Amino acid sequence: MSSKKYILGNWKMNKNLAEITKFFASFNKHLITNNKIKYGFAPTYLGLGLASNLKKGQTFIIAQDVCEQEEGSYTGQISCKQLKDYKINYAIVGHSETRKFLGCTDQMVNKKVKVCLANKITPIVCIGESLQQYNKHQTKDVLAKQLKTIFNGVDDSKCIVAYEPLWAIGTGKTPTLKEITTICTHLKKFVQHTPILYGGSVNENNAIDIVTLKNVDGLLIGGASLCPDKFNKILKEVNKWTRK
Ligand code: 13P
Repeated sequence: MSSKKYILGNWKMNKNLAEITKFFASFNKHLITNNKIKYGFAPTYLGLGLASNLKKGQTFIIAQDVCEQEEGSYTGQISCKQLKDYKINYAIVGHSETRKFLGCTDQMVNKKVKVCLANKITPIVCIGESLQQYNKHQTKDVLAKQLKTIFNGVDDSKCIVAYEPLWAIGTGKTPTLKEITTICTHLKKFVQHTPILYGGSVNENNAIDIVTLKNVDGLLIGGASLCPDKFNKILKEVNKWTRK
């Protein structure tokens, strides 16, 4: 049994150009070819050009964010049109770190999604609950509310959703496998035709168990995606699984 799986790395504000070069020199040695797996990385904006040049095989490159405006006086922002110069076709939007540190809101994510789709960029929409909300058993309601605002007026089938519990990001903690599959199944009720990824403390040891859960269509990996050996190990296992 097999279906298409997304294995994506979010490098956040890590790796300079030398480190990106070193990463691909190692990562490219063990590339897999498998049309049931889609894999790629989101480097810093300044590394998009280099990563695009160094990537090989099926690897694709993702932007970590994009401005909700088409162009104009938005100091520090990057537009879809500018991403297109680098042939970028995917952008993460609404990551919890951009919400926390840059004030991104669900309303802004809704605009970002719209501007992405207008420019033929697939948005990877991050949603997730806080630890407090998780403890109060509010996860399903919180996520449903986020989806409602973010996908207002949007064809969600052209998007990807990444469920990233805030308390699982970079903490070494994850929900149980049962919780992950329950939540992703819940999300499918709202976005039936949208791939749903899980993110938050995924590593080379737990990745295969998570990605093979029902209604989990892939992974958005932070820390473990920085290391070519760890990411390759994950890809190798998923590759093996899709060929069963
Ligand atoms: P970690 O895998 O480091 O927990 O980060 C997850 C994440 O934020 C991916 O976008």
